[in-house]
Amino acid sequence: MKELTYFNGEFIEPGAKVVSVDDRGYCFGDGVYEVCRVVNGRCFALSYHQDRLYRSMREMDIPVRMTPDDLTELHEIMIEQSDITEGYIYLQITRGVAPRHHAYDRSKLEPQMLMYIRPLDLDTIAAYGKGVKAITLPDERWLHCSIKSLNLVPNILAQTKAEKKSAYSAILFRDNICTEGACSNVFAVKDGILYTYPANDLILKGITRQMIATRVAPSCGVTLIEKECDREFIEQADELFFTDTIGGVIPIVKLDRMQVGDGKPGPVTMRLRESLEKVMLEGLP
Ligand code: PDD
Repeated sequence: MKELTYFNGEFIEPGAKVVSVDDRGYCFGDGVYEVCRVVNGRCFALSYHQDRLYRSMREMDIPVRMTPDDLTELHEIMIEQSDITEGYIYLQITRGVAPRHHAYDRSKLEPQMLMYIRPLDLDTIAAYGKGVKAITLPDERWLHCSIKSLNLVPNILAQTKAEKKSAYSAILFRDNICTEGACSNVFAVKDGILYTYPANDLILKGITRQMIATRVAPSCGVTLIEKECDREFIEQADELFFTDTIGGVIPIVKLDRMQVGDGKPGPVTMRLRESLEKVMLEGLP
């Protein structure tokens, strides 16, 4: 097993100094990224990640230089050459390199692409199944959270506050409405019904969220309602969970100082978690 890093068309040594100090990703966080899970030696839901990547690039006005087939092939090569069967692939594309100036001239910039593959510790992911703690924080992000931009300052500040309080992550509230987590989506269960924030510009449309909505919840016979849930609703939920590519469905058993439900991962959450794991093992292009 070998961690691999790819930059602009070639594999490079880990730690190699290849990024220009004038890279707009480095100066401005001016770029987009994706994180895809490798399960059983295959990328899970890669076409969904690609669709979101291209959408982010369109919305950020970054030209696309690679076809979906080329990208898929590159992901496959990374898995094959690294021999990593359980891990993740990080991909980022910045707008390009130019002397620092806020405005950009598309015609003078060539997007810069970085990719790497790393193994994941499955025991850590399995341990999330026992339930995690979450804290609540205000959502202080911009109005285009559906773009998977490299510019993550409010997210990292929120996540750091959460981890300092020994929480897995933070649940964010905008105008008293729960939007999502600092780096995951959020679901609540009340009286057997599943709730999550509608997929608009104020959240990242997580691929895991999409899997829950379109495959996992229907196959488990669980009704999902996309609606704006206020703080009171979230605090009184029977069950709460995060979803993200790395951890899947992550039960929340403590919210700030309160216990969620009976303080144990809830039955609906665990059914969805197990069902998602099955879908991931079966694989999806
Ligand atoms: N984070 N919301 C935010 C703000 C996120 O950063 C993420 C993912 C999600 C979940 O999306 P998905 O199910 O597609 O992973 C929701 C990734 C994993 C990250 O930044 O590393």
